[in-house]
Amino acid sequence: RLLIIDFGSQVTQLIARRLRELNVFCEIRPYQAVTDAELRADPPQAVILSGGPDSVTREGSPRAPQALFDLGIPVFGICYGQQTMMQQLGGRVEAGHHAEYGRAFIAPAPGHTGDGIFAGLFADGREEVWMSHGDRVTALAPGFEVIGTSPNAPYAMIADEVRRFYAVQFHPEVHHTPNGRTMLENFLRLAGFTGDWTMAGYRAEAVRRIREQVGDAKVICGLSGGVDSSVAAVLIHEAIGDQLTCVFVDHGLLRLGEAEEVVTMFRDHYNIPLIHADESELFLGELEGVSDPEVKRKTIGRLFIDVFQKHAAEIGGAEFLAQGTLYPDVIESVSFSGGPSVTIKSHHNVGGLPEKMGLKLVEPLRELFKDEVRALGRELGLPDRFIGRHPFPGPGLAIRCPGEITREKLDILRKADAVYIDQIRKHGLYDEIWQAFVAILPVRTVGVMGDGRTYDFACALRAVTSVDGMTADYYPFTHQFLGETATRIINEVKGINRVTYDITSKPPGTIEWE
Ligand code: XMP
Repeated sequence: RLLIIDFGSQVTQLIARRLRELNVFCEIRPYQAVTDAELRADPPQAVILSGGPDSVTREGSPRAPQALFDLGIPVFGICYGQQTMMQQLGGRVEAGHHAEYGRAFIAPAPGHTGDGIFAGLFADGREEVWMSHGDRVTALAPGFEVIGTSPNAPYAMIADEVRRFYAVQFHPEVHHTPNGRTMLENFLRLAGFTGDWTMAGYRAEAVRRIREQVGDAKVICGLSGGVDSSVAAVLIHEAIGDQLTCVFVDHGLLRLGEAEEVVTMFRDHYNIPLIHADESELFLGELEGVSDPEVKRKTIGRLFIDVFQKHAAEIGGAEFLAQGTLYPDVIESVSFSGGPSVTIKSHHNVGGLPEKMGLKLVEPLRELFKDEVRALGRELGLPDRFIGRHPFPGPGLAIRCPGEITREKLDILRKADAVYIDQIRKHGLYDEIWQAFVAILPVRTVGVMGDGRTYDFACALRAVTSVDGMTADYYPFTHQFLGETATRIINEVKGINRVTYDITSKPPGTIEWE
């Protein structure tokens, strides 16, 4: 048993995700829930201490159970996990200055090429890593030595080989630390794990669990046309056949031609019973005058549930509502298991659920990350073209229209987005990009076209690479591509006279604008 003690980092789940890629399953528990007594009575084989938003220098901040360090088992501390480990074992941590976010490079400490969990690193003389920290360790606990340093983190990689304690200031679990996987793999090997977990097994297990949960009750599934809800629908259909009816809510915030596509695909191609609910008047009406992102999300979430309930009543006797909720939705929306994460965005498919909802939930993808959902979709025989579609958020274009949403802006946004995606497909870049879209900005700027003055909206193009949506980097288009795309949008889309390209990574940005 590998135990991850969670201090509330936004990316704690990724540690579990990486371990799963290595076919090792693990348990994540919030730090408050793990006691000294429990650890002593039933010690895990190894422990990973996650990152977290707090500062160990603050009085009353989270700590690992002290008994952990007397069990004789390997421990790996990440970011906050490193800091609390140092503090608890007699080192020192300082707060405030030298914050470091994003890419950094670690150089080996003099005399070190790395060993233990750092074996196989520094092949090019340095290691690229992803940092996200405000505090840093300034004195090592007894028994530790430095393996690697970065300009802002003198103790970026440290180890006590005798006790098998390892710690890093950066995040080895994110995709943007290229050799993070090697470190985790080394740690597993060192702790004596051998992996035996697979996706084919997951499918059979998921079908069994859905049948067990649902029995012979009716289920309605909110189909958005995205990969997640589609995979959920096909999986549930495999499990319970026509006990499932899909409800496709058209909230008026979809992309160009999307509604027709979804209806054709599921009704005609998959033969899954489907209700097409055109509720755009309702949604756009309620969103009138709303510009706060959280209010938008909550409004859309609330209406979604209302509409579902209405259609559930029409179908008659549906007891369950199925949703394609993923792990990342769960982590960023609620504190995991009552754990310490800070809410960044309340994703509508989780945060907006009213307590008194009359339907029980079936969420068969709740434990999966995006790339795992795609693998499951392939496993279920969904076409590659469909599985390869970029993710599209539940609140749709509402969160790509910062400020007030109007029909006029939505129309302009749809057209600009269609041109942009067409450009990306024509250049053969679609599959290299995790997500690409246009956001229409709540600002008009002056331009000149022909001999006339224009006063139209500005828009921002967004394209990011990512593996799981948890961290992301902007896509490095050529200037020629960007220039050509800007020209096409301005020429083909009436209402836009200025195009910008968003080059923010996540963190510190998020992928969507709201
Ligand atoms: P952010 O903007 O948080 O987005 O970096 C991460 C990924 O999640 C998608 N996203 C959502 N998906 N409901 C969803 O189903 C939501 O409310 C929501 N908000 C963001 C986003 O498109 C990206 O893929």
